[in-house]
Amino acid sequence: MFVCNCNGIRCRQVEEAIRAGARRPQAVHKHHGCKAQCGRCLPEIADRIREAGATAASVETAVLKSA
Ligand code: FES
Repeated sequence: MFVCNCNGIRCRQVEEAIRAGARRPQAVHKHHGCKAQCGRCLPEIADRIREAGATAASVETAVLKSA
């Protein structure tokens, strides 16, 4: 599924950029060598970055609690 129709960026490519360190929607575009055009995808990319951060924090908390 495409997240950014203007640049043809798919869900898995957004996740790949986040894993590579993208923490802002613009960084996801930059990771794939493009720029936001219409900007409609920016809220969804921001949500995915937030969700990834929440997931990482949850894993960290679970690891700390089990130690
Ligand atoms: S949908 Fe991503 S810039 Fe237009």
